[in-house]
Amino acid sequence: MRIQAAVLRASDGPFAIEHVDLADPGPRQVRVRIAAVGFCHTDVLPRDPGFLARPPLIAGHEGAGVVEALGPGVTEPPVGAHVLLSFDHCGTCESCLDGHPAYCHAFFQRNLTGTGTAADPQPVTDADGKPVASRWFGQSSFATHALVDVRNTVVVDQDLPLDLLAPLGCGIQTGAGAILLALGVRAGARVVVFGAGGVGLAAVMAARIAGASTVVAVDLHRGRLELAEELGASHALEGGDGIARQLRKITGGGADYVLDTTGVPEVIRAGVDSLRPRGTIGLVGAQSRDLVLGPAALATGKNVMGILEGDAVPRLFLPRLIELWRQGRFPFDRLVRTYPLSEINTAERHAASGETVKPVLLPGS
Ligand SMILES: NC(=O)c1ccc[n+]([C@@H]2O[C@H](COP(=O)([O-])OP(=O)(O)OC[C@H]3O[C@@H](n4cnc5c(N)ncnc54)[C@H](O)[C@@H]3O)[C@@H](O)[C@H]2O)c1
Ligand SMILES: [Zn+2]
Ligand SMILES: [Zn+2]
Repeated sequence: MRIQAAVLRASDGPFAIEHVDLADPGPRQVRVRIAAVGFCHTDVLPRDPGFLARPPLIAGHEGAGVVEALGPGVTEPPVGAHVLLSFDHCGTCESCLDGHPAYCHAFFQRNLTGTGTAADPQPVTDADGKPVASRWFGQSSFATHALVDVRNTVVVDQDLPLDLLAPLGCGIQTGAGAILLALGVRAGARVVVFGAGGVGLAAVMAARIAGASTVVAVDLHRGRLELAEELGASHALEGGDGIARQLRKITGGGADYVLDTTGVPEVIRAGVDSLRPRGTIGLVGAQSRDLVLGPAALATGKNVMGILEGDAVPRLFLPRLIELWRQGRFPFDRLVRTYPLSEINTAERHAASGETVKPVLLPGS
């Protein structure tokens, strides 16, 4: 079927809106008409020539839409169901069986290569009949339509606005899950979040929900720090030299939990220095350089935890976040600004400059 997609043709080029062909859904797959898709910082990683995925590629991994066609033998979700898409996982490895699909042994292969597993043909071919990498997070949803594995769908009520819900599938789930699931922040805890983008601000709201007594947001962007305060941060600080000292003071001796969403090694080191003894730092920011810690940096029982996708099971966690949103306790919709898919390059620019926290593209508009 002929669809429209935003294709990244070169690591340093713009996304190009193209007419491409999408195969029919295979066994275990459904075709989803994408109503909205969030723009996550991870979608620009294929611009790094050293990264796992390479152009030509269709990125997009926070899709939300309506099931339009079912592969052979598929009965659920039915045609017409409204679904959020999240990350791909195998369903059969130790982590998947143990209820931790974000740590699927094939996570990188299935989500970050853009081409999926060796068994996956690329469902999209371009106008010249050439295949385009179109298994990014098992969805490649910067497009009017996407093929996804049934496992990678979360059915939601039809009265919910898909354009607001789309970012739940990755960025929002990652920040909230890191706090509520992976780190398990408890009432009264002192929490520091580095980076007040979509992931960090979701973490700030989640820390409030968990009952943290102190929630400090650190960023370089004034507007984002103000938003962090509006969303429940007790303190908002500009990062830079001496930040660890300031944070130890504010938290009365150090944070119980730090979450890094910047991926900057110097920031992570400051995060470790901001912990009190036995505290834990969670790392979700994509790191482009090695992290080096001093010999005694972790000696006082400090922990470093890598976290993918908030260690969430999307079918369990996303409905919980939607309920908290309905109750007005998790207003992540305040981060969202919508753009037509044709404005994807503007959306990327606005995300990079900090002007928009969470762009959401509308392929149908
Ligand atoms: N682990 C996962 O599963 C997962 C999931 C989603 C996103 N991510 C990654 O998480 C990161 C955050 O994503 P996002 O969408 O919120 O990105 P974002 O770019 O919107 O937010 C990052 C924030 O960090 C701030 N920042 C940068 N350098 C800083 C410094 N030195 N000190 C303080 N703040 C600084 C920026 O100003 C920005 O506001 C990205 O690297 C993304 O790839 C990881
Ligand atoms: Zn698995
Ligand atoms: Zn993401």
